[in-house]
Amino acid sequence: MSLKHIEARAELESHIEANIIHSEQAHTHAYENSTKNGLPIIAVSPVQGKFTSLLVALRGARNVLEIGTLGGYSGIWLARGLQGKGKLTSIELDAHHRDVAIENLQYAGLKVPEDVEVLLGAGLDVLPKLEEEIVQGKREKFDFVFIDADWKNQWNYFDWAVKLSKGPGCAIYVDNAVKQMLESGIVGDQERVDDATDLVAKVGADPRVEATMLQTVGAKSYDGFLLAVVK
Ligand SMILES: C[S@@+](CC[C@H](N)C(=O)[O-])C[C@H]1O[C@@H](n2cnc3c(N)ncnc32)[C@H](O)[C@@H]1O
Repeated sequence: MSLKHIEARAELESHIEANIIHSEQAHTHAYENSTKNGLPIIAVSPVQGKFTSLLVALRGARNVLEIGTLGGYSGIWLARGLQGKGKLTSIELDAHHRDVAIENLQYAGLKVPEDVEVLLGAGLDVLPKLEEEIVQGKREKFDFVFIDADWKNQWNYFDWAVKLSKGPGCAIYVDNAVKQMLESGIVGDQERVDDATDLVAKVGADPRVEATMLQTVGAKSYDGFLLAVVK
């Protein structure tokens, strides 16, 4: 295996999408309706969406938390992983994104807010409110957290994810963690951003979790994610 095989990545991704991803019409609709409504084209790919769905199913999750809803594309995958036996709570800063996401989630046959609740606000404002509601017994803790919002807060969201998790075995997935490390100059030749946080070093020194980071290559980009399990 050599790096030259990387040239076939787009062809391979199309082959994977055509054969094992089994995207639904609701996924295609979510992409198309989001684009039509002017949302940026930054949702996870079908391959990655399916991967997160499988992780939710593997974990047997019942309460999933997502930070960064956009048009609900990843939300549909996460909700499918719950197999009708749980709830997704997703946080989104932008009201227009939230509105389009609700349309797309409902189109996918998901009930809002029973199956998927989309909370409007900045992650760092909404998360303490969720904690209050958990303490008051109004809401359950989470067993799978998908972090896909503003990169500068990845560590802060991670810390909240551990605090709001049910405990041992709960999983936390941080999307775009590789790009964040490279673009903030933590590793590589880019100039280091002054207040950049080294997510790998922070998570690695955190006694609450075990984790790894995986580099990925897809049709359009090189990136990767961090996956942690609460001890
Ligand atoms: C990469 S997109 C999410 C993509 C989505 N998870 C998907 O794959 O379909 C990031 C989203 O996070 C939202 N966002 C940015 N900063 C945020 C913040 N501080 N709190 C909550 N959401 C935020 C953006 O408005 C955007 O919709």
